Amino acid sequence: MIDQIRKYIEEAKGFSTNSSAEIEEFRIKFLGKKGILNDLFAHFKTVPNEQKKEFGQVVNELKNLVNDKVNTLKEALEGSSEVTSGIDLTRPGENFEIGSRHPINSVKNRIVEIFSRIGFTLSDGPEIEDDWHNFTALNLPEHHPARDMQDTFFIEKEPDVVLRTHTSSVQIRYMEENKPPMRILSPGRVYRNEAISSRSHMMFHQIEGLYIDKDVSFADLRQTLSYFTEALFGKSKIRLRPSYFPFTEPSAEVDVYWGLETETDYRMTKGTGWLEIMGCGMVDPNVLKNVNIDPEEYTGFAFGMGIERIALLLYQIGDIRMYTENDLRFLEQFKSELF
Ligand code: DAH
Repeated sequence: MIDQIRKYIEEAKGFSTNSSAEIEEFRIKFLGKKGILNDLFAHFKTVPNEQKKEFGQVVNELKNLVNDKVNTLKEALEGSSEVTSGIDLTRPGENFEIGSRHPINSVKNRIVEIFSRIGFTLSDGPEIEDDWHNFTALNLPEHHPARDMQDTFFIEKEPDVVLRTHTSSVQIRYMEENKPPMRILSPGRVYRNEAISSRSHMMFHQIEGLYIDKDVSFADLRQTLSYFTEALFGKSKIRLRPSYFPFTEPSAEVDVYWGLETETDYRMTKGTGWLEIMGCGMVDPNVLKNVNIDPEEYTGFAFGMGIERIALLLYQIGDIRMYTENDLRFLEQFKSELF
């Protein structure tokens, strides 16, 4: 028996670890309720009298040793806990990968910011739209040939419910709910049932502008757009080409003079120096009548542009498919965008 205890003493002396779990295991083995020491103390009664003294001594020696061991190992562990608990505070940190804004989103934000400086506020409307807001109120009555300008996704027929084909629908919603003067900007998704190719998608983004007040003129429109192209592209020279939209009269296509300084300029502008960026015009009196605004008292202008196209020009993106491919090599190029 005493020999066995001496073996325990040797074992305890030799024990070493820097794992707190192992220290605890060691403690329980010797000092636990069903541990070795309790066992030995229980045995004490059966030890022959002449051995009692020696037995008592070695058992006490073992007990003190185990106690000391547990305490010193624990102290050592606490002193170096950052290493032993698996966290090394001296190691260099891991890199956090911060995402970047999608170019469509950052261009949209830039456009919104530019127009907000001159008093335009945001307004939005539903992507699932009724016939009235997407077509009829915009001076596109049923069977009007211009409805075919935009191939429409229908959700329901009679009455027609569609995926909005343009953000111009928001003009109508806003004018129905508010009184002039008004200056709004409406960015959002629009849908067209067009064959998917590198140039056309079923869903894309537009941003619509509307300004209604007394005495708003075509010159105001031109000045506002020139301010915009200067702020966004750093180019203020624009031209307005006559065009047709049912909801504006007169209507125009806006070109910005990009220049012909580099080879890229030549390629982008097909050698003309000009790039088409949006449609615009003076809000048609019929549209104002449809939303109970008196066209004798108020006039206004509207414009609409595709955000994909603007971003394409601004960042010189080669192919519109890049927007949706989620290729990190593409997306990571926009990390420095503040907006
Ligand atoms: N809604 C037109 C489109 O989808 C864009 C547009 C053109 C909007 C002229 C306007 C505008 O507000 O005045 O192609």
